[in-house]
Amino acid sequence: MARQMEQKQGDELVDPIAQAPGFDDTESIIGFWGHPLHAMSVAFPVALTFCCFGADLLYWWSGEVFWARAAVWAAGTAFLFGLAAGATGTMELLMVPGIRIRSAAWTHFVIAVLLLSLLGANWGYRLQGYEAAILPYGILLSGFNVLVVMVTGWHGGKLVFDYRLGTSKGS
Ligand code: HEM
Repeated sequence: MARQMEQKQGDELVDPIAQAPGFDDTESIIGFWGHPLHAMSVAFPVALTFCCFGADLLYWWSGEVFWARAAVWAAGTAFLFGLAAGATGTMELLMVPGIRIRSAAWTHFVIAVLLLSLLGANWGYRLQGYEAAILPYGILLSGFNVLVVMVTGWHGGKLVFDYRLGTSKGS
């Protein structure tokens, strides 16, 4: 019996990453009074990416130049707020050992950098003529950005809810 137990223990798979010092160190450190800045700031680029697509659709439907102007503002602010959100996320990724060591956090980084490049391209393209830019490429780009922001946000949520990264272990 004792021999069987020993054998069972010997067969157990050991994850070398889980043995690393700081593996369980996953609390958010970039925040105000323990309230994580990344979680607070991502709402803005997510909402503005949707607003840009919405304004493009309304321009397509109505032909009103107002919507083209709304879309270029939404595209620009989505990009700038996205950069700010990305900066808080990157600080968390690099400074918290338990986040830095998990590949899922780096996957989120790669998806987010793709998103930021697309948001920047969408804004830059419109700066050369925000009304003419919408049909067809502007609206196609903003529609695609909605898909990528959904994937980014969904994956970020997994980091928090499944891996419990950036959460407080406090009281
Ligand atoms: C560019 C670099 C980025 C890095 C390195 C990064 C990293 C992280 C990390 C480590 C978390 C886990 C929670 C935490 O520690 O705060 C997280 C959560 C999250 N991220 Fe990012 N992120 C980046 C950009 C973005 C962007 C651009 C978006 C969306 C526009 C985004 C959306 C989210 C969401 C929605 C969560 C879940 C927040 C929650 O439910 O509390 N991230 N991110």
